[in-house]
Amino acid sequence: MKMIAEHRNIGLSGRIEAALDAALLRGAVSPAPPTLVEALRHSVFPGGARVRPQLLLAVASACGDDMPGLSDAAAAAVELLHCASLVHDDMPCFDNASTRRGLPSTHAVYGEQIALLAGDALIVMAFDCLARAGLAAPARVCGLVSVVARGVGMPGGIVAGQAWESERSCSLDTYHAAKTGALFEAATMAGALAAGADPGPWRTVGARLGAAYQVADDLLDAVALPGEADKPTGQDVTHTRPSAVKAFDVDGAVAHLRLLVEEAAAAVPECRGAEQLRDLVRVQATRLVPRRLIHTAA
Ligand code: FPP
Ligand code: MG
Repeated sequence: MKMIAEHRNIGLSGRIEAALDAALLRGAVSPAPPTLVEALRHSVFPGGARVRPQLLLAVASACGDDMPGLSDAAAAAVELLHCASLVHDDMPCFDNASTRRGLPSTHAVYGEQIALLAGDALIVMAFDCLARAGLAAPARVCGLVSVVARGVGMPGGIVAGQAWESERSCSLDTYHAAKTGALFEAATMAGALAAGADPGPWRTVGARLGAAYQVADDLLDAVALPGEADKPTGQDVTHTRPSAVKAFDVDGAVAHLRLLVEEAAAAVPECRGAEQLRDLVRVQATRLVPRRLIHTAA
């Protein structure tokens, strides 16, 4: 009981940062190679909006969050995987981006070899987080590992999403569902699983939110005001990638974003914190809209 109260006191963001820090510290113990230790920290801190772990913990709370240590570990695992994917995504073999979150990207600071290894280490660290926390909850951990693995791997996780960029053609829905939707889906389902609830009803919430997030990212890539994005923009055109803006134009993409957010809110199943969570989805979604389009999307 005391542990649950302490977890509530530090708030969702505090819980996420503490769980990430603990995971990185475990990987920094001697005889860890110091450059990789530094590169891992650079890849994870300071974070972005931490949308996926926030979502995971919000769902866990809505489902009772009776094992906060387990939901924290799941939140850290999902964020570590997201950070790993960004480290690899920025590398010269993919987007060749020299900045991330307003700072030099991992490969720009530490070189390609260390960046590749940093991504690898973060992936393994994520599953170690789940395994360690799962010792206290063996009945929940297999489901968690499986849901998180599906959000990342084949056939439909973020690795598959990235691989679609190397195919001659793909549908925008399939590409977006894998590239972004899959890890959002894993986040909502893992939040439910960590709290001992049925993950099934939470799948659509994650899928719709992930799709909305990707549409917003495509809009930002296309119409960000100077200084608004903390990463290079115009990338979808540069890399001839499918995008919501290319498919629907700017106004159509904004309308699509609004529809997806409403679908995500409507998909929240009845539970203790359902109304709060629906509001959170809508409020968070308004923050995704690029500044130039706020009036269009209101
Ligand atoms: C950002 O997309 C990238 C992703 C959403 C996923 C990248 C996935 C991989 C590189 C596969 C490897 C996965 C792991 C777990 C190591 P973007 O380039 O459209 O967005 P950006 O503008 O933020 O770069
Ligand atoms: Mg990129």
